[in-house]
Amino acid sequence: MVDRASLAVLVTRPIVEGSLEPLTDAGIRIQQWPVDEPMPRATLLSQAKDVDGILAMITERIDPELLDAAPRLKVVANFAVGVDNVDVAACTRRGVVVCNTPGVLVETTADMAFLLLMAATRRLGEASQAVRAGEWRGWSPWFMLARDVHHATLGIVGLGAIGRQVARRARGFDMRVLYANRTRRPDLEASLGVEYVDFASLLRESDVVSIHLALTPETRHLFSTEQFRAMKRTAVLVNTARGAIVDQAALYEACRSGEIAGVGLDVTDPEPLVAADPLLSLANVLVVPHVGSATRETRIAMGRLAATNIAHVLTGQRPPAPVNPEALGRDRRAD
Ligand code: DGY
Repeated sequence: MVDRASLAVLVTRPIVEGSLEPLTDAGIRIQQWPVDEPMPRATLLSQAKDVDGILAMITERIDPELLDAAPRLKVVANFAVGVDNVDVAACTRRGVVVCNTPGVLVETTADMAFLLLMAATRRLGEASQAVRAGEWRGWSPWFMLARDVHHATLGIVGLGAIGRQVARRARGFDMRVLYANRTRRPDLEASLGVEYVDFASLLRESDVVSIHLALTPETRHLFSTEQFRAMKRTAVLVNTARGAIVDQAALYEACRSGEIAGVGLDVTDPEPLVAADPLLSLANVLVVPHVGSATRETRIAMGRLAATNIAHVLTGQRPPAPVNPEALGRDRRAD
């Protein structure tokens, strides 16, 4: 029988109010970092010492050093669907369950991808900036000419949950939708109206390429000089996944030289991107600060799901979103 009063969870940021009820309802003590900035590493290591669970942001590195510092730790619930900040293999070896927040942020992130798709294609950031800079000298047949979104070809790289929702949105704009994916999904092709192509054909044929992949050693810098050369010079790239999937130096060069028409980024490498970054000197680069899932409703849902994941693991129930289910029911052990 678990003595719930002795259970403690470290929450590494203030999160939207009400999200942590699944923990308080289960009688679990919460220890919360009160500042809306990443916990200093030394503080994280020392506060992890006496906790059974950590509700972590993507800014925390959960690695063997942290696991060594947290001998009681049984569960890490990431406040994100991406878990590239977590050494999942090391957690599994030590019997630490890792959970994430799939599902609840899909539509909100797909909205952001579509927003960036439209904004980058229609040069929205550049046009708005021109007004502020006093460069709007009246209507002109030439000013800020862009390309159409409707009836254009969209290439979705990664037909997971978010990629599928972007495809649905694109159908409303009569776009032709191509997808490249590790495995072909014939079961989805008719219902979503998407065509399977190989990666090279997707790059060659798309007017917009939108990335919906997890960051792994295989996808790191998947987009670099060669891929930008393969894209149409009129095409734009959209990335709402992880910054490091794109080789940012190569992206700068491609946008600067006109190899591609522009880019809409919600994610960069590193984050935050400093204001002096060369990428931000280019008019055809639109960057927003990793806010794809940043709506009140979605952040509450993410917080509640993360808290539920932890409460379930610590009270001996199956959590709704385990990333390494093989660690469930195992004892905590040293590496
Ligand atoms: C995720 O869930 O991985 C997002 O990037 C966090 O907003």
